[in-house]
Amino acid sequence: MMSSAVWAELKQLAQQPLSLRQEFAADPKRAEKFQVNACGIHLDFAKNLITDSIWQKLLELAKQSQIQSKMQQMLNGDKINNTEQRAVWHMALRADSKTPLVLDGVDLQPEIQACHARMAELIGQLHQGEYKGYQGDAITDLIWIGIGGSLLGPQMACEALAPFNQSPVRIHFAGNIDGAVVSDVVKNLDPATTLVFVASKSFGTEETKQNALAVRQWFTDKGADKAAIAQHFWATSSNIKAAAEFGIVAEHILPMWDWVGGRYSLWSAIGFPVALQLGMQQFQQLLKGARDMDQHFIHAPLEQNMPVILALLGVWYINAKGCQAQALLPYSHYLRFLPSYVQQLDMESNGKGVDVDGKPLTDATAPVIWGDAGTNGQHAYHQLLHQSVLAVPSDFILPAKVSHELKDHHHRLAAHCFAQTQALMQGKTFDEAKAEVLATGASEAEAIALAPHKVSPGNKPSNTLLLPELSPYYLGALIALYEQKVFCQGVLWNINSFDQWGVELGKQLSTPIYQVLSDQQKNSFDASTQALIAKFKQLNLG
Ligand code: F6P
Repeated sequence: MMSSAVWAELKQLAQQPLSLRQEFAADPKRAEKFQVNACGIHLDFAKNLITDSIWQKLLELAKQSQIQSKMQQMLNGDKINNTEQRAVWHMALRADSKTPLVLDGVDLQPEIQACHARMAELIGQLHQGEYKGYQGDAITDLIWIGIGGSLLGPQMACEALAPFNQSPVRIHFAGNIDGAVVSDVVKNLDPATTLVFVASKSFGTEETKQNALAVRQWFTDKGADKAAIAQHFWATSSNIKAAAEFGIVAEHILPMWDWVGGRYSLWSAIGFPVALQLGMQQFQQLLKGARDMDQHFIHAPLEQNMPVILALLGVWYINAKGCQAQALLPYSHYLRFLPSYVQQLDMESNGKGVDVDGKPLTDATAPVIWGDAGTNGQHAYHQLLHQSVLAVPSDFILPAKVSHELKDHHHRLAAHCFAQTQALMQGKTFDEAKAEVLATGASEAEAIALAPHKVSPGNKPSNTLLLPELSPYYLGALIALYEQKVFCQGVLWNINSFDQWGVELGKQLSTPIYQVLSDQQKNSFDASTQALIAKFKQLNLG
């Protein structure tokens, strides 16, 4: 794609000056033109550094790319994760329950429905207080042990949908191998009333294994025997053997499949905490929202296709305008974990150095995703967004309706959200800044001296996504929107978005270092690492 004639034209267009203020002034229909709706979500993309001709060229790029045929391959269950020879079929997990889902000649629908039925049964027992612990007490707490895709999705969604909580069981997440996490989680819990889920597709991830062992030890220390542990431990994994070896009985292992990537697994039993919190009916709404976004993605023409639009804008900024970062700014306290979730989704999927055939890439791929809930960020890093020479395209996300009673707060929050996008787009000129200073009674000289500091260049691009409300349905649609955006960008860059070999090296190198730290091996690494280990050991012992 990057070598096509259209791309060359786009690179040329990217060099030409463009003023968003002028574009809005010249075209009263701009906002109407650059907006789209899908599954009730409204996307305003008018405040982007595009003109009609740039947009037409970007759409041409999408037409020439293989988005539609690659999407078809994904839907067919072709092994588009070519380095692991795996299908990419997370969409099947949220498909309509009546649709047959045939992969390699086997209909997977019964397995998926059986998994939902087992989740529903356990949730029913937990909600009713019928699942008893080894001392006959009802379960009050659940510890969810997992990391990366086995943690970020359920944690983010549980937080996002906190107002829909119907469960008497409190949920605690443990991911990091930092011992503080598990120590803090178990501090106020009682094993007799605690259920543990070990969530790991591979059941081989060090952090998850060590945290699971620590929690199992906590049970043992409190007097639980093997049978008690078996009663309290569950797993979600595709490695039944390793889960069984750990001591988890077969009836307590919910399935994972190799055709679901970790960061795309929220829709599987990895979503159990969300289903527990919401009840199975509302969890189905989350799946429905994602399913409807999939349908939109599959059927909408390119120029009205929301994931395609977001993908094209992203590629435009990264590859034509040289923007390396992308801010994700949810104006919703409940969505504050969304940036971390999308970080894994986008950066682990598309942060690649070679194309699908292993040829080195010359152009950058995934952006550096960062962000936090508005308005907190306005008092921290928005300064850089407004005035730095760096341009950081930003996605603003705002639910229109909220469940809390402080309606005026919500109007103020929304006002800030819109004001930020407006300020980023229009900026403040020198003359405007000077007039502002003069209005405070300052002299001409003082105004001229201060005005440059108050200038905001404007022309900073943003998208605004408006959700009718933050419900399971719209959250499902929003997550699927970003998933499909990442997919489209992977196609545009001709990379495999579904492997993550880059994370392996650090894992491999940590083993010999751990052996040195625990005195099983001698220190023999590069000079810097060697010195750090020696210093750490000295301080650690001191
Ligand atoms: O960080 C690498 C990774 O493989 C992620 O892709 C995955 O989500 C995470 O580790 C956890 O893996 P698992 O579910 O196998 O423990």
